[in-house]
Amino acid sequence: LTAPAPILVRPATAFDRGFVLDTARRLADFELPRWRRPETIVDTEVAGLATAFDTLGQTGAVLVAETPAGEPVGFVYLEELTDYFTGQAHGHVSMLATVKGAEGRGAGTALLAAAEDWARRERLPYLTLNVFGTNARARALYERVGYGVDTVKYRKVL
Ligand SMILES: CC(C)(COP(=O)(O)OP(=O)(O)OC[C@H]1O[C@@H](n2cnc3c(N)ncnc32)[C@H](O)[C@@H]1OP(=O)(O)O)[C@@H](O)C(=O)NCCC(=O)NCCS
Repeated sequence: LTAPAPILVRPATAFDRGFVLDTARRLADFELPRWRRPETIVDTEVAGLATAFDTLGQTGAVLVAETPAGEPVGFVYLEELTDYFTGQAHGHVSMLATVKGAEGRGAGTALLAAAEDWARRERLPYLTLNVFGTNARARALYERVGYGVDTVKYRKVL
């Protein structure tokens, strides 16, 4: 039995654009609510990331996880938001995805730890994120690393 290789997390550069936009296609790779279409989700996320790469280093952050051999295995896109009720600035995990073949090896956990380091450096007091209620795997990960449910959004088809 060999221990899994440690995952390293670093800021994205323009060279990571292709990898990150490809990996974002996984952002609908789980059971979706029945009124959602995977193509719509993926297209919207990819467009948001393209803008993030066009303005890299200006606002928010894109971080890439890689193996010690330098093989990229996932990314996280972080933004600064303000709370609707208090107006307090905070960090937001806007997108998180790892490549299918690397799942369960700690890349998601490493990216969330790096998100916390980013937020501390930016003097942001907490992190938020949105997740589809049906995304059990992601929700288990978030709860395991200490996130608690804030609002829950419901929808009724008329
Ligand atoms: C959700 C997602 C980011 C998780 O990434 P990941 O790299 O698999 O995350 P981790 O490996 O850190 O943790 C996942 C599981 O592997 C286990 N694990 C972590 N490190 C491990 C290791 N070194 N060896 C074996 N298992 C490990 C964890 O216990 C965890 O178990 P859990 O699912 O019961 O919580 C990934 O599945 C993904 O990209 N999904 C599709 C996109 C998505 O849903 N994104 C989130 C949108 S909100």
